[in-house]
Amino acid sequence: MEKVIEIRNLNKSFGDLEVLKGINLDLRRGENIAVLGGSGSGKSVLIKCIVGLIKPDTGEIKVLNQNLNDLDKNQLDELRQKVGYLFQGGALYDSMTVRENLEFPVRRTQTSNNKAEVDEMVHEVLESVGLLGAIDKMPAELSGGMKKRVGLARTLILKPEIILYDEPTTGLDPVTSGEISDLILKVQEKYNTSSIIITHDMKCAKQTANLLKLIVEGKFYAEGTFEELRTSEDNKVNAYFK
Ligand SMILES: Nc1ncnc2c1ncn2[C@@H]1O[C@H](COP(=O)(O)OP(=O)(O)O)[C@@H](O)[C@H]1O
Ligand SMILES: [Mg+2]
Repeated sequence: MEKVIEIRNLNKSFGDLEVLKGINLDLRRGENIAVLGGSGSGKSVLIKCIVGLIKPDTGEIKVLNQNLNDLDKNQLDELRQKVGYLFQGGALYDSMTVRENLEFPVRRTQTSNNKAEVDEMVHEVLESVGLLGAIDKMPAELSGGMKKRVGLARTLILKPEIILYDEPTTGLDPVTSGEISDLILKVQEKYNTSSIIITHDMKCAKQTANLLKLIVEGKFYAEGTFEELRTSEDNKVNAYFK
């Protein structure tokens, strides 16, 4: 299958802190890759590099066959619309209703100015995440799991080809985590997306990803299926499964 993300020898430091030290990654269409790694190992930095929020020191990132280094601001904005990014924590606008939160990206990107059309888009994505009933609620009225769903709906409304999930189940109870993991798979099937899923939650990785990759000291140290990594003899790898 065609590659939708291609990362070659990506390096990123903050001052003396070398965070990413030679990251290589290929994401193919239809694939879900889980990225594992300890806290502070650079997982979020990696995702931010992919969406152009952080500029790498060296290395190359191609997204949908476009090299980020070659793009001007407008081209980068255009590309970003095809790459959904579900922030750690969800990051809904607290002063807006669910509906307004979902309308926001549509207006910002001028995807549609037609009220009926926008309304239909909002309804469709809310239905996809099972939250149509919450359309007029404020974020403060929602549970953690519901906020994640709205965050995902807000990503989906622009019909991304790629979705990057940063710890989609962190802070949720096990049942709700399982529901979000199911939803990640459902979304992939319905919208035909490819994903990178950063997670500490091994159940989520098992449920959602066809390939797992583990970052240690700024590099991918191991990769394989859930079972391959779980049964690895290497303590740095199998420690995640205990
Ligand atoms: N914008 C930034 N400026 C300086 N340091 C940063 C910045 N973003 C991340 N870092 C540092 O980079 C390291 C990796 O961060 P991060 O990718 O958020 O870790 P995680 O794997 O937990 O997501 C951390 O030590 C963090 O403090
Ligand atoms: Mg992080």
